Amino acid sequence: MSVLRITGGRELRGEVRVHGAKNSVLPIIAASLLANGETVIHNCPKLSDVEAAIKILRHLGCRAERRDREVAVDSRGLSRLDIPHGLMREMRSSVIFLGALLARGGEASLSLPGGCELGPRPIDLHLGALRALGAKITEEGGSIICRAARLRGRRVNLSFPSVGATENAMLAASLAEGTTIVTNAAREPEIWDLQCYLRALGVNAYGAGTPTVVVEGTRISADVSHSVIPDRIVAATYLAAAAATRSKVELSGVIPAHLATVVGTLREMGCEIRAERETLYIESDGNLRAVRPVITEPYPGFPTDAQPQLMAAALRAKGTTAFVENIFENRYRHAEEMRRLGADIKIEGRVAMVTGTDKLTGAPVTATDLRGGAALAVAALGAEGVTEISGLHHIDRGYDGLEDTLRALGAEIRRA
Ligand code: UD1
Repeated sequence: MSVLRITGGRELRGEVRVHGAKNSVLPIIAASLLANGETVIHNCPKLSDVEAAIKILRHLGCRAERRDREVAVDSRGLSRLDIPHGLMREMRSSVIFLGALLARGGEASLSLPGGCELGPRPIDLHLGALRALGAKITEEGGSIICRAARLRGRRVNLSFPSVGATENAMLAASLAEGTTIVTNAAREPEIWDLQCYLRALGVNAYGAGTPTVVVEGTRISADVSHSVIPDRIVAATYLAAAAATRSKVELSGVIPAHLATVVGTLREMGCEIRAERETLYIESDGNLRAVRPVITEPYPGFPTDAQPQLMAAALRAKGTTAFVENIFENRYRHAEEMRRLGADIKIEGRVAMVTGTDKLTGAPVTATDLRGGAALAVAALGAEGVTEISGLHHIDRGYDGLEDTLRALGAEIRRA
């Protein structure tokens, strides 16, 4: 079992180039099934979640090859419409294949996704959206089976702006007859990126980034290439790491507007942050102060995926910061581990009160989920002494070369 061994207290200096967004790549890989041709995805990070999605494509009969940071998919050979339990378990977001498989093959069978480390992860909104477009859905032997001889464009109203349900609706709608209007759609930048890919395929989709997304279904047979947007959550992680230490760091290849709430919070903590085109410059003297409540909300609100990393930065800030988690239950499991480093965190339901301490010291800890694991690395960089983080498979789902990047900035970190 490998661990990340981090000796805290080092200054971070230098430049980081932020890799492509996991949450863009995964739905675009699913969307490549619609292409019935070749898709080349550029800026595709090397992540275990992406490799799991590639395995699913191959299982379905598609050709999928990685060449460094590029993935080429040929979906003409699609020969199956099921995703078995083993593959579903490897990547919890594989429910995103549902809409695309149904649209392309008229049927999709997925082993039911289990709960996940962030609490129960229902898919009722995904299924409701597909039903609205004409799918018949049944459950047989632990699998969800969706069938639709013909999908028809309709109005799909989501009771909550779920990212995955919005994407599934867009994917199914792309090959449906007529126009689909998704209302109360998620507005995350990754939805916009998916829209860009669909437009490249020839689908007239518009409205992404607003609460109403419109997709005019069409027949597709296209070869396309697409470069995914930078990963705003990975960028937020490096910003939090810089904030928690004494640092002067340049993050290049980012879209600063996607990080507005995170940057606002870090400035309030006392970091100096400047944006210039696709670069963010951050400077921190490591002496942070508590901030107004950090409340997670759907985009453009503060992202739930950056909550643990910002909490890690707040551990040594002067005063008490309240975190309010509104998206996922059970998203404070990192707090328990942070307490092992000496953190003062009190949790009641959705609220975590974090009181800064100057006595953070290294200890053995375990990553319990992806962003919580990254947050432990941030906390360790700001702690005194050595922290050993286990459970690295969680971190590897979403960070391409976390330790190499941090080491290049001057951190004392290695995988052992
Ligand atoms: C996506 C992101 C994930 C991020 C999340 C919220 C991907 C691959 N993952 O996940 O990193 O944390 O957005 O920004 O893009 N819900 C239901 N029923 C449903 C679907 C969702 O009740 O059918 C609830 C969820 O339990 C959760 C909330 O809606 O409480 C948000 O989930 P959603 O936006 O769907 O997140 P994901 O698409 O799973």
